[in-house]
Amino acid sequence: MFITLEGPEGSGKTSHIKPLAEWLDHLGHKVFATREPGGTAIGEQIRDVIHNLKNTEMHPRTEALLYQAARAQIVEQELRPRLASGYIVLCDRYFDSTLAYQGYGHQVIPLEQLRSVIQFATNGLKPDLTILLDLPVEVGIQRKANQQEWNRLDAFTLEFHQRVRDGYHQLVQQDPGRWRVIDANSDWLTIQENLRQLILTKLSSS
Ligand code: TMP
Repeated sequence: MFITLEGPEGSGKTSHIKPLAEWLDHLGHKVFATREPGGTAIGEQIRDVIHNLKNTEMHPRTEALLYQAARAQIVEQELRPRLASGYIVLCDRYFDSTLAYQGYGHQVIPLEQLRSVIQFATNGLKPDLTILLDLPVEVGIQRKANQQEWNRLDAFTLEFHQRVRDGYHQLVQQDPGRWRVIDANSDWLTIQENLRQLILTKLSSS
């Protein structure tokens, strides 16, 4: 079972992954939790290049391809082998982030081009369940500004981040069977509880 968490900046995804993995482990599942971009030694190096605040001249196509390079590596090195041996894989972001940020956010690369490089990078590996942690852009950016890891994409305009959020909503509408949406403008425990409920429902239906 392959589960991905998505959301705009400051939606709190990262703080939920580890507790979810521990809970699933207690329930007796084999669990693997990871993140994108990153999750492999090569992917983490690519992450540093993409997020470096000094790389202001990076073109959206360069950015899109770097994300796919990191993704191709994690798919082959970690995700496929774990899924094949029965793990529940939880991933903090996956290809929907490319569609939301490099597609809807930048608005310079047609979505069908992005879908084809995603297909190449993932070789068709799709999540079984994708959960959107949704919240107003201003709230998320404010939360992020109070934390330490402020990266090159966080520094994009509020309009960019609004397009990203709207883009996520479009993606949900395009594939409602795969997506579930949680209100992330809520307290942490409620969000964690809602995440667990969605995962339990998915596990019991598969
Ligand atoms: P985060 O893990 O702190 O959310 O940082 C990841 C950043 O990378 C975030 O700004 C979203 C962005 N991103 C993309 O733009 N495209 C992608 O394909 C992925 C995986 C992430």
